[in-house]
Amino acid sequence: MTPVTSTPEQIARGVQILREGGVVAFPTETVYGLGADALNEAAVAHVFALKGRPHHNPLIVHISGPEMALTLARSWGEREQRLAETFWPGPLTIIAPASDLVPRIVRANGPTIALRCPDHPITLALIEAFGGPLVGPSANRSGEVSPTTPDHVLASFPDLFVLDGGPARAGIESTVVRLLPDRALVLRQGLITPEQLRSVLALPVEIAPAPSPGEDLGSPGRLPRHYAPSTPARLLSRVEILAIAGRRVVVLAASPLDAAPGRVVLAMPSNARAYASRLYAALREADALGMELIAIERPDPSGPEAEVWHAVLDRLERACA
Ligand code: TXA
Ligand code: MG
Repeated sequence: MTPVTSTPEQIARGVQILREGGVVAFPTETVYGLGADALNEAAVAHVFALKGRPHHNPLIVHISGPEMALTLARSWGEREQRLAETFWPGPLTIIAPASDLVPRIVRANGPTIALRCPDHPITLALIEAFGGPLVGPSANRSGEVSPTTPDHVLASFPDLFVLDGGPARAGIESTVVRLLPDRALVLRQGLITPEQLRSVLALPVEIAPAPSPGEDLGSPGRLPRHYAPSTPARLLSRVEILAIAGRRVVVLAASPLDAAPGRVVLAMPSNARAYASRLYAALREADALGMELIAIERPDPSGPEAEVWHAVLDRLERACA
């Protein structure tokens, strides 16, 4: 059970801050977001500045349902609507052509907008009471591990007003999908899997290949180093981990492993969705131990949960890049 601790008074306070052009952190099912009025350029600029986010990386816009998409997207077809009806509220971000209403800063001067309806009662209530769309990048400084609790947000932004929605259930950022005439492209993998998208769209679904150096990134969440702790981290096999000697290491292990001199073990779930839910908190705990190395036992992405494991591995590879 997610303890939901923000009160209606706190949501009203959040709305007031947003109306004044301020920034509020809000809970979602994936990670906490840094919210501001998506139609107020100065408020959005403040979000970029707080995060230290480069202006060429566009923001996701959070809405309370497909009706709001109709004013923000220049076109919203039958396929987009079907995805929204199937997966919203939930961890799917849909890229659509942007309407003139959307400030250029939100979309990093590009022609498209990223739209998502988060599955959290507090944030849905916040958007409804505010009466408009909110930008919501993850509430961390650019490049850091995304926050899954209010304490994580406050560690980066001690003075921020944070709506407390308890720990985020899903734990990794939403799947980002772009529809092309003959196929769909997954720009960021997440808990809505290519197989789920394929079954709804009846189209081929491809995972966008890693960008080559200097290439337009399409979705800058694809930067090789992202979601990274400050302690060096490496993805290793169990055998490699057991062979580490003479270094102070913290191990994230999904299979049983004993602590040893110089070795602290954080046990990770063996189920892919539970692993995702725990991942960022575990990376932060591991980082806080101040060891020389974070060794992450490489999960085996096979079996029925393979696509979820691939989304997890994507984050692990970036944490280790
Ligand atoms: O789960 C999530 O999506 C979280 C929670 C708070 O909702 N938000 C989040 O936002 O992860 P952010 O800003 O940290 O990540 C946005 C991702 C980036 O990879 C960005 O490049 C991509 O979405 N993106 C945003 N607008 C885009 C656009 N118009 N076209 C392509 N990619 C876009
Ligand atoms: Mg982020």
